[in-house]
Amino acid sequence: MLRSFFLIFILAVITVVAIAGFRGTHTTKPPIEIIPDMDHQPRFDPQHESAFFSDGRAARKPVDGTVPLGYTLPHAYYSTEANNNKFRQKPGAFSMAPDYYNSGKIGDVYGDGIPVEVTPEFMARGKERFTINCAVCHGATGSGNGIVTQYGLVGVANFQDNRLRTMPDGQIFNTITHGKNTMGAYGPQITVEDRWAIIAYIRALQRSQNATLNDVPQDQRAQLDQPQVTK
Ligand code: HEC
Repeated sequence: MLRSFFLIFILAVITVVAIAGFRGTHTTKPPIEIIPDMDHQPRFDPQHESAFFSDGRAARKPVDGTVPLGYTLPHAYYSTEANNNKFRQKPGAFSMAPDYYNSGKIGDVYGDGIPVEVTPEFMARGKERFTINCAVCHGATGSGNGIVTQYGLVGVANFQDNRLRTMPDGQIFNTITHGKNTMGAYGPQITVEDRWAIIAYIRALQRSQNATLNDVPQDQRAQLDQPQVTK
């Protein structure tokens, strides 16, 4: 009984010393490879050299014009020539690419300006999308008095405030994409182009509530019921 206890004890000591005792010591002998083909795989590691290619590098340069998956080239949207850019994103797309069109930011700062041509159809689209997505809270004129404010939602931003009038377009884009405080994110629901259409329509709403006679073209002033005094 006692003898077998000693035997087990000594075996245990040998096992512990064998496993843990030599940790941290160095050897110049090659390691024991149980499954060697896992260690030596026939492949090129990134940034390594290779005798196969004439330039001696294992990595190949991407073909000219390669675009990383899910990304489009920055500033591809500012071109004024129609259809000259094959990287232009299709309308109806979602993207988190870091360029101005997709983020509202230029580097770390919010940019200003609508990077899409503003046409009457674009405005109509913006009005429709605003009415569907934003008016319930922000109100049809953007005054922050949408229907849900009658049911207890407080602190809805008023687009007629000076702070919102002077806010860069890119910051509004960012708020639509990511939300702010109690306002949820609409990036997953509203396409990139529709977000810009909504911003263009918000700018129209802001002007509509802060207009002077000078904003009305001369030949249309006769249609006004009560011409106002020009400020
Ligand atoms: C469910 C209600 C709700 C909806 C829908 C909603 N918002 Fe808001 N929004 C809010 C509230 C509340 C705030 C104020 C958040 C705060 O600053 O605390 C706000 C703030 C904002 C601001 C100001 C952000 C700032 O930096 O101060 C902008 C711009 C804005 N919303 C745009 C929009 C647009 C555009 C839409 C439609 C795509 C929209 N919101 C839809 C509730 C809503």
